[in-house]
Parts: sequence; C-alpha cells; structure tokens
Amino acid sequence: MIVELDKMTVRMKNPDHVRGIISSIKKDGINKLQVISDFDMTLSRFGWNGRRCPTSHNILDNSHVITEEGKKELKDLLHYYYPIEIDPNRTLEEKCPLMVEWWTRAHDLLSQQKILKRDIAQIVKESEVMLRDGFNEFFDQLHKNNVPLFIFSAGVGDILEEIIHQANVFHPNINVVSNYMDFDDYGILRGFKSPLIHTYNKNNSVLNNTEYFQQLSTKTSIILLGDSIGDLTMADGVASVKNILKIGFLNDKVEEHRGKYLESYDIVLERDETLDVVNGILHYIF
Ligand code: C5P
Ligand code: MG
Repeated sequence: MIVELDKMTVRMKNPDHVRGIISSIKKDGINKLQVISDFDMTLSRFGWNGRRCPTSHNILDNSHVITEEGKKELKDLLHYYYPIEIDPNRTLEEKCPLMVEWWTRAHDLLSQQKILKRDIAQIVKESEVMLRDGFNEFFDQLHKNNVPLFIFSAGVGDILEEIIHQANVFHPNINVVSNYMDFDDYGILRGFKSPLIHTYNKNNSVLNNTEYFQQLSTKTSIILLGDSIGDLTMADGVASVKNILKIGFLNDKVEEHRGKYLESYDIVLERDETLDVVNGILHYIF
C-alpha cells in the first residue's frame, strides 16, 4: 500500500500493527490529524557526505561569533555529555540531571559570547545545517492539507526557526516549543528563557499551558517523529489520542540501539537521511 515502507532502511517490529494504525488514521480523515516532531536530527540531517551535520546548538558553537577558547569549551562539553545522552545502559533518572548540567553549562558559555540577535540569520546561512531530503514535500503537504505541525525541540528555538524560514517552509500551520534566546535591550544575548528543555523532559512538564493541545482536542490521530528515546513522550500533552504512529530515525550506534528502538517506535528508519517514508505515509493518508 505504501512502497516507501519497502525501503531497505525501514524496520518494524510489527508490520501488521503499523498497517492497522495507518489505515485507521486514513479512515478517520485528515481533519483529525496532527503531526508532532522533534527538530534536530529528525527534520534536520544527521550526516552528509560522511560528515556530521550540526544541531541547532552546534550551529552557534561553531559560528564565527564564538572565540576559539569558547569553541573549545563547548566542544569539550559535547564530547563529555553526548555519549551520556545516547548511552543505552544508563537510566533516565541518571541522565536527566546530567542533561540539565550540559544544557546549563552550554547556555552559560554561549551567554558570555556577546552574540547579537541581528547576526543569527548570517550564522545560520554560514552553517552546514541541512534539512532532510524531501523536506519541501513534507512541510508543503502538511500546510496544504491544514494539518498542524508541532515542533518540540530541546535545541535553540531562534536558530531552528531561522533554518525553517531560510528554507522557505515556515508556514502558518507550524508551532514551535523550544529553548529561546533572551536578548537585552541592545540585542545582545544574556541568557535563555525558561523552562529549560533537554532531551529527556520533552513532555507536559515544560508545556506551561497545554492550551495548544486543548485547541487541537479534535485531532485524535497523531504522527510522531523523533530520533531520540526522549522524543517518545512529546505527545503526552494531547488530550485524547485515538491513533498514534511513532516513527523514529535511528542515526547513530545503530546496532547497539536497534532493539530498544524497535520496542519503542512503530517504524524505525536506520541511517535514512530522507523524509521519504513519512512523505509516503502522508501521501497515502491524503
Ligand atoms: O531532542 P532534540 O533533537 O530537540 O535535542 C537537541 C539535540 O541537541 C540533542 O540531540 C543533543 O545531542 C544536541 N545538543 C547539542 N549541544 C548542546 C545540547 C544539546 O548539540 N549543548
Ligand atoms: Mg533530535
């Protein structure tokens, strides 16, 4: 029914269950559908030409506005905390405080760098960030069909919004919850607005009002897109869920994580840098 599901990158623990959910979503109609997605390494690419692509944080970390010393300190944090973030052998209880520590230390370092609001567009232009192949079709299809897209990101809101703007796909059906920069009256970065969103608190606890999801209470079919185990709780604020299809991009340490991802996500996309499968499913539903 959806040829993209035959791609070599696709793994499913229970293909019949997946087909069942997709049929149910189609049957209930697009008026009932909403999409909830992570940004970094889900809508943006993990790698290109054998190189890692930057996250929204990395875009700032690597930019020309950061001193050499600042860059080194930010890189040291990444090398220390990223392996903890993705370590399958540590519990969430162990990881959460360490993630708060990472984000807090990185945000403090960035806030010492006198980053100007007016430089953000140029910083994004000069970066190596790329959206996944097929992003135009993804964003445009959702917009054309009036399907709300909620982007829930532990990255940097100002940066990811700029990326989507520069790709000309920031349509009015998009809502973003993320870490936003706090600039002083001179447009100089002085900190980040709260609440702090990290990989493992992407749930109700940081959505200070669930007004967004209350407005969408009739949208009981959900397609959830993520790349981390932390992304699985992004739809917890939805008032009433009838059908939920969870699609997970497995980008890194694939063999080590496969079991856990297959248990948690309905569809696992291994080292797939495209939105082909998502677009194929949307195409079928529309
Ligand atoms: O879950 P989400 O994709 O929104 O999380 C943001 C990503 O940014 C995490 O996967 C994390 O590895 C990365 N990150 C980073 N630098 C930081 C903090 C997080 O690259 N200082
Ligand atoms: Mg991510």
